[in-house]
Amino acid sequence: MKPSRERHRDKRPEAAHRQPAVAAAPLRPARREGALPAERLPLILEVLPNEDYALIDSGDGRKLEQYGPYRIVRPEGQAIWRPALPEKDWHKADAVFTGDTDEEGMGRWRFPQAPLGETWPMTHDGLHYLGRFTSFRHVGVFPEQATHWDHMAGLIAAAKRPVKVLNLFGYTGLASLVAARAGAEVTHVDASKKAIGWARENQEVARLTTRPIRWICEDAMKFAEREARRGSRYDIVLFDPPAYGRGPKGEVWQLFEDLPALTALCREILTPKPIAVVLTAYSIRASFFAIHALMRDAFAGMGGTVESGELVIREKTAGRALSTSLFSRWVA
Ligand SMILES: C[S@@+](CC[C@H](N)C(=O)[O-])C[C@H]1O[C@@H](n2cnc3c(N)ncnc32)[C@H](O)[C@@H]1O
Repeated sequence: MKPSRERHRDKRPEAAHRQPAVAAAPLRPARREGALPAERLPLILEVLPNEDYALIDSGDGRKLEQYGPYRIVRPEGQAIWRPALPEKDWHKADAVFTGDTDEEGMGRWRFPQAPLGETWPMTHDGLHYLGRFTSFRHVGVFPEQATHWDHMAGLIAAAKRPVKVLNLFGYTGLASLVAARAGAEVTHVDASKKAIGWARENQEVARLTTRPIRWICEDAMKFAEREARRGSRYDIVLFDPPAYGRGPKGEVWQLFEDLPALTALCREILTPKPIAVVLTAYSIRASFFAIHALMRDAFAGMGGTVESGELVIREKTAGRALSTSLFSRWVA
């Protein structure tokens, strides 16, 4: 019986024409020899309220956030406590995600004060981009990622040499833009044509169109396999996979099945003097110890440190921390 990734990935029509992925990406990658990297955990990376973004309040399964000019209410399963602010403050929100229709786009949002357009101006550390009301309750940015962006920008600046960054599952491109602004040459990969379009729009809004960013609409695993075969190499790799996703040709991404192979590939496509590999995982039933162990094993023999923990957002009103995701990063 074939290992599981091959079983479900073989359903893809193009699988028969592909070169076997086995050479570049063993389905069950062999365990690496060598000493495990040093470890640092738990590391809790916190985003504090700032001028551009703040978690104002949370509770009763919802969160109230400030995104630039707008106050936005969205469901938040982890907010099992009571809101700190009175209901009348929540009623002042400009947008509320209802999710009560199957309609694509803005139909799943309600605008209690005045009708709003699909996008609005946002800024991160002087970098301009667009907030966006999407049908999946997301707003075009994951603000908790800001600590990763700042860390990465610091590493790029400190390298004092040309740096190549690969951003897999890149969504609306914020990490790619931060890397490009810091001087890196960036390759951004996402399966969604729409998300690539939004990312390109953000590049224009950020006035970074002259910076070297390759925008690629492809299945992340397939792309990484190809880069391994071609000998393309990167100094920094970011991967921010969903629990479940699909490539542009219907390729299935299942985090628990596919993450070990993709992590092994991320090591394989590093330059001889790599800088960092950063993994974030959302909405999964696992502890950060799980991705920590995976990353340490994958980077055995490379030296450096694997740091793992959670990305959290600190509330402005009551100061509670809202956990958003798990992360694990290898830093040379
Ligand atoms: C930012 S990641 C996931 C993190 C996000 N916080 C979430 O849970 O939805 C989502 C991105 O991965 C992309 N994606 C999903 N499956 C993919 C695949 N097989 N290859 C490349 N990108 C994929 C989606 O298009 C989307 O832009």
